[in-house]
Amino acid sequence: MTVVSAPGKVYLFGEHAVVYGEPAVPCAIEKRATVTVEPRDDGHVRVEAQDLTLNGFAVEYADSPASGPDVDVPKPLIEAATGYVDAAVEQAREAADAPAAGFDIAVDSEIPLGAGLGSSAAVVVAGIDAATRALGEPLDRRELANRAYQAEYDVQDGQASRADTFCSAMGGAVRVEGDDCSRLETPELPFVVGFDGGAGDTGQLVAGVRSLRDRYGFAADTVDAIGDIVREGESLLSAADPDSDPSAELIGELGELMDINHGLLSALGVSSRSLDTMVWAAREAGADGAKLTGAGGGGCIVALDATTETQTSLQYTPGCEQAFRAELATDGVRVEDE
Ligand code: PMV
Repeated sequence: MTVVSAPGKVYLFGEHAVVYGEPAVPCAIEKRATVTVEPRDDGHVRVEAQDLTLNGFAVEYADSPASGPDVDVPKPLIEAATGYVDAAVEQAREAADAPAAGFDIAVDSEIPLGAGLGSSAAVVVAGIDAATRALGEPLDRRELANRAYQAEYDVQDGQASRADTFCSAMGGAVRVEGDDCSRLETPELPFVVGFDGGAGDTGQLVAGVRSLRDRYGFAADTVDAIGDIVREGESLLSAADPDSDPSAELIGELGELMDINHGLLSALGVSSRSLDTMVWAAREAGADGAKLTGAGGGGCIVALDATTETQTSLQYTPGCEQAFRAELATDGVRVEDE
């Protein structure tokens, strides 16, 4: 039995614009997906999902999950639970040169699905790592990140950047610009996350931004301006001492950039009433800055606040289902048991 976990992430800056080659800075957070893999010799794949959205169900199949068994769960949820696992299995089979390998797979995730916290990337990263280890062919982190990106790319019909998968594999704060991915040394940042209980459709939201960008020069300028925010934020981060607590000045400046980033994402049509409500609740509680994280449409916001005020205020904000402090996950993908 091989057990591997991988973290989710928040975007400090740059989602959506990263799809068009602008840089982005996602940060891994201590909310993990844990995947347990046991090889089996009949070539079948059995997936058992246990997370916040899918309250525990199992499917077993020989070919693709689409032809899977008759379970009393809506098809989109089955696809959400099994599509990424299936793509991870394909990548692991290819990497280990074991095209007929079968597995019992259990997914146990603390990361809500489709809420901007990188749940699918964490499942794919942990899944590929666990399955290749179980086959005796462990991958180095860069190759793991590459294969996880390929898996997401396939499931999302090409609408994926390397940001989520690279961040989940490496941990910490990272910088992604096209195919160029690197780790950033940053101080611990006081992230607070608010979750509205919902989810956005990443493919649809990315397509919406693409359409605005194609139709209007000013929408394309808005995407470019998000890139400028990221570059500004990066230079603030690289000037900071990663081993000390961040100064109030740094948090204030990063927060200001997050506020502007949220405004531009909102202009591109990817915010929602509940995300805006949580962003404003955080700001009014004294957060240094707040923005949606991930594709938008619903899901999560991320705020910077070293005090307890934002979390408390979000807990009493109608429409916010959960608020929590999110520590930077320095570890990335991690073997829990082998
Ligand atoms: O909502 P998430 O965690 O899937 O993030 C999507 C981020 C986008 O920039 C909108 C798309 C991508 O693949 O980078």
